[in-house]
Amino acid sequence: MTIKMQHVKDYGEMSQKAAAFFYEAIHSNPKIHLGMATGGTPSGMYQELIHKLTEHPLPLGAIKTFNLDEYVGLTQDDPNSYYTFMRETLFAPLKLSRNQTYVPDGRTTDHEAECTRYENLLDTHGIDVQLLGVGANGHIGFNEPGTPFHSTTHVVQLNPSTREANARFFDRQEDVPTHAITMGIASILKAKQIVLLASGETKSEAIFQLLNGTMSEEWPITALQHHPDVTVMVDEAAASKIL
Ligand code: PGA
Repeated sequence: MTIKMQHVKDYGEMSQKAAAFFYEAIHSNPKIHLGMATGGTPSGMYQELIHKLTEHPLPLGAIKTFNLDEYVGLTQDDPNSYYTFMRETLFAPLKLSRNQTYVPDGRTTDHEAECTRYENLLDTHGIDVQLLGVGANGHIGFNEPGTPFHSTTHVVQLNPSTREANARFFDRQEDVPTHAITMGIASILKAKQIVLLASGETKSEAIFQLLNGTMSEEWPITALQHHPDVTVMVDEAAASKIL
């Protein structure tokens, strides 16, 4: 296994280290294609990255970003859509334009066509560095346990535990969408480099499975075991089960 581990103390240090990594990645390749993630895990990293880019600006006009997933049924300007999250958290502060920021379209009625369109987009452009968080159940993107490793962009039904975990962002639990469009496991593995962030005790079993578990579709994160270039930044709590 060629996974590179970076151990940090806590969420703050993880966010700083990850931001420094992405700052350097943009610095060394102004035309970089970045795979982006939403959720609590990358939020601190995005804030730190904006801070660094404000203090020491880099040209951003030629970078492109590609998000992992989007809820089905929410309009782009819905406060809970991942597009809105990305616009508020990263795209607007960095003044990234619409034609350099790609997120699957969850409003479409023809899901199959949207999945094909998005996968083609990924194949045409290619992702240099993919940022990932991980779910407590080991999901990456919205690829829940049992998702085939050969899956490309597809529509998924969200697990009750995932809907519960994400309910904190919605007024009522029943408002959490039941489906999402996500890059598949195979789509994620096509990235040249992968950086996975994990903070907190709830992620410790998933990190254990990545490093010590058998490669199995029951733990989607284990698909990363054979990728040639994976860096994992874990804080003490997320690393607490590693042997
Ligand atoms: P989180 O979600 O960053 O909000 O913990 C990660 C995930 O579910 O992939």
